[in-house]
Amino acid sequence: MSATLTSPEVVAFDGVLPLTETQRDIQRLARDFAAEHVAPFAAEWDRDQRFEPSLVPRMGEAGFLGMLLPEAYDGLALDTSSYLLALEEIAAADASTAVMMSVHNSLPTQMLLRYASDALKDRYLAPMARGERLGGFALSEPDAGSDAASLRAQAVRDGDHWVLNGTKSWVTHGTYPDLVLLATARTDAPDARRGSKGISTFVVTPDMPGFRVGKKENKMGLRASPTVQVVFEDLRVPAENLVGEEGQGFVYAMQSLDHGRLGIAAQALGIARAALSAARDYADQRKQFGQPIRNFQAIQFKLADMASRIASGRALLHQTAAAKDRGERVTAYSSMCKLLASETAMFVADEAVQIFGGYGYVKEYPVERYLRDAKVTEIYEGTSEIQRVVIARELYA
Ligand code: CAA
Repeated sequence: MSATLTSPEVVAFDGVLPLTETQRDIQRLARDFAAEHVAPFAAEWDRDQRFEPSLVPRMGEAGFLGMLLPEAYDGLALDTSSYLLALEEIAAADASTAVMMSVHNSLPTQMLLRYASDALKDRYLAPMARGERLGGFALSEPDAGSDAASLRAQAVRDGDHWVLNGTKSWVTHGTYPDLVLLATARTDAPDARRGSKGISTFVVTPDMPGFRVGKKENKMGLRASPTVQVVFEDLRVPAENLVGEEGQGFVYAMQSLDHGRLGIAAQALGIARAALSAARDYADQRKQFGQPIRNFQAIQFKLADMASRIASGRALLHQTAAAKDRGERVTAYSSMCKLLASETAMFVADEAVQIFGGYGYVKEYPVERYLRDAKVTEIYEGTSEIQRVVIARELYA
């Protein structure tokens, strides 16, 4: 066997999606971009834990960092399905690049667009769409993960500033110098806590005195995406950087995660699709017992199950995206999309490793990376258990 499968041709298998001409064009654009600028380097970035900073302006120039923003902010003003199709293409090449695209497009830019003052939108959105600045989101803390409302970072008003203290965890690309971080902190008083209603959101940037990058995580997967703690030490934030209304930060976060979880679902499907492509090609080339292993039903059944799960996860995702664009509330469906797609990614990547056998267990081939990358999709932006909580609650709403 030769190690030729580092950048497999994709098995798209998306024929049932009712895609428009524009959506197909965006999908093709993203596929071509990924083939040229992302896929050839993904294994190396993963090995070296390297976040390639030139990718950000390059993706901005190509339009991938302002996909959902209005043209007035230099965005492409696309529908959600177009964005998710592009994201899946990028994820099929490299899940680390995809998480950058997903976090940026789904969380900070959407939060600013929906809730921030015109002054904040004018200052940040166009540079974010152009890739001159990269968005981040800071909700979790060392002791506040699934129970996000228990966060403890504190903001205290001091004249025309807020002073922030606390530690935020799992901040995607928190090391980026031109970061625009949408950070949550408590604005209720320690002796009069208001639960989820005591949380507000601020725009924080690394040039503000008191902003410090803390521990960098050494992760199992998504190794080309830097994940760090960010520490606020008497960080002075101008009062006008409060996003929307004081005390509404938790609701903004939850609403944005409804959107973010669709992005993670697309990322998971991209990983799964890459794993299926690699396994399909390998099963065609690998000979045992005198014939290609694709001739064996044991392998055919695996490939069929992998393809079926991807196609069904994708169908729900794009139905949900369309409902969202019609203005419908999609909280439960968004959780279902993420739950199904992330479990699909784990299932498909695991089966791909199994089809590769020993070759799947070594770094010569990409499938072990797909398995490592897939795992986090069951964890971040709400664990699979939290998605089930959200879905079950909605059954009784
Ligand atoms: N849309 C709008 N409002 C919402 C909402 C939604 N989807 N979900 C909750 N709310 C509102 C509720 O209506 C409620 O408002 P009222 O009090 O006015 O009724 C308020 O928010 C509080 O809601 P809950 O009582 O349901 O809050 P809770 O404390 O029980 O928590 C939870 C609910 C679903 C468990 C939530 O804490 C949660 O989603 N946890 C997971 C957190 C998470 O996903 N973190 C990921 C961080 S980002 C990341 O992973 C890194 C990265 O960027 C890649």
